[in-house]
Amino acid sequence: MMLTVRAQSFAQWRKEARELLAAGVPPHAVQWSEALQSDDLFGAVEQPRQAYGAADAPATAPSATAPAAARMPRDMLRMLESAACFRAPDRYAFLYKIVWRWQLGQKEVLSPADEDGARLNAMVKTIRREEHKMHAYLRFRERPPAAGAPQFVAWFEPQHDVLPQVAEHFSRRMGHTTWMIGTPQATMLWDGSRVVPGPPVMQGPEDIADTGEAMWLTYYRSTYNPARLNVSVMQGHIANRYWKNMPEGALVPAMIAEAAAGAQRHGQTKTVGARTGVTIPISADDAQPKREQPSTLDQCRRCDLWRNATQAVPGVGSQSARIMLVGEQPGDQEDLADTPFIGPAGQVLDEAFAQSGLGRDTVYLTNAVKHFKWEPRGKRRLHKTPAQMEVSACSYWLEEELASIGPQVVVALGGTALKAILGNPKATLGDRIGTPFQHEGRWIVVVYHPSYILRVPDAEAKARAMEVLVEGFRVAEKLANEAV
Ligand code: URA
Repeated sequence: MMLTVRAQSFAQWRKEARELLAAGVPPHAVQWSEALQSDDLFGAVEQPRQAYGAADAPATAPSATAPAAARMPRDMLRMLESAACFRAPDRYAFLYKIVWRWQLGQKEVLSPADEDGARLNAMVKTIRREEHKMHAYLRFRERPPAAGAPQFVAWFEPQHDVLPQVAEHFSRRMGHTTWMIGTPQATMLWDGSRVVPGPPVMQGPEDIADTGEAMWLTYYRSTYNPARLNVSVMQGHIANRYWKNMPEGALVPAMIAEAAAGAQRHGQTKTVGARTGVTIPISADDAQPKREQPSTLDQCRRCDLWRNATQAVPGVGSQSARIMLVGEQPGDQEDLADTPFIGPAGQVLDEAFAQSGLGRDTVYLTNAVKHFKWEPRGKRRLHKTPAQMEVSACSYWLEEELASIGPQVVVALGGTALKAILGNPKATLGDRIGTPFQHEGRWIVVVYHPSYILRVPDAEAKARAMEVLVEGFRVAEKLANEAV
């Protein structure tokens, strides 16, 4: 007998899947449906479903029957939850196949080397990327105060069902400011203390009250310099589906035209240039295209650190690493060699790799800030801690790395890395060191920065800090192994 089971959310799927597994119902005997009950032909009333019983298992059940529903590791659940956001007609059937195989002891079903595992991992990666795009390109517009809550609204058309987790992301960043995010499928509302599903009032961007939009456009027009406009970067990096819902997208054709006509000779737009006062001719350097959304790290001009650095230092390591190590910023040697952690701090890291047994070649190694910040001291370039706005500007790249690598565990090497990973400038090492915790679906392990270990004068304190680093690596590896 073929069972038809409804699931319209991960929570529903999970509940049904648990019962099906316990009753030993194999994937080929279940048809999953996402249809609303009200979509039923002639509005037929569905009979309340009894718990699945042995009778639901087909007579031709495979000889390998599932054991009573075993507890799934949390990381596996998280993968399934992510994959459930992937819009595919067979998503719930596929997820059931995954858990069925896993219950049979086929743990390789989670591995990219397995055919189903490869699809699962690709789905998870796509979802992480979609979340990242939505974080980067979603634009809130302010509503008139008289309109009451929500104070801000945003419209976005995601390709997958990532709205709930994106709403959580913004709720952590916007304090008590109320907002609503609309998509063609659903709306979410932040009332200042909770995220709740919003009313389906937003049919499209035209529903958005536009005083905020007018303000945004004025701001954007006055800060954007067409002389610096790099058309191919601007159009190539951000797909049309994002541009069309970004207020500044409406300005782009006119700005391109202005840039092409060479209309802009000064370091600001017409509006600003029309103001009386001193005209400042721009230098050849400043005339370089401004890349608000750079297509490559090397072209990044999101802050000014690029000016004094030799180059941007990208992360290195396996694209499917399960552990990502995040440092602060490249040092003098890293800046010259274009590789993270090859100088003195890298040697401390190597020692920790050796003591913990974690392989440097198995992890992905990067920094919160990708350009070397320094000040001259005689002939030396002395490390300078990056400012919070530099860390925030560079979080664009860290988020992109997190989305594309998709590590299960992230090791924060020191306070700057921790702030960048959490997107919280107030986060401190003292609160977090030594106790792994979950953040946005992955484990975070916090340890001392290797440079701190180098600097500690007291031998005993140095040894203790090193032990924290080594233990952190061991814990990271254990958590990553449990996740598979
Ligand atoms: N310190 C860091 O944080 N990163 C490096 O790459 C080198 C030193």
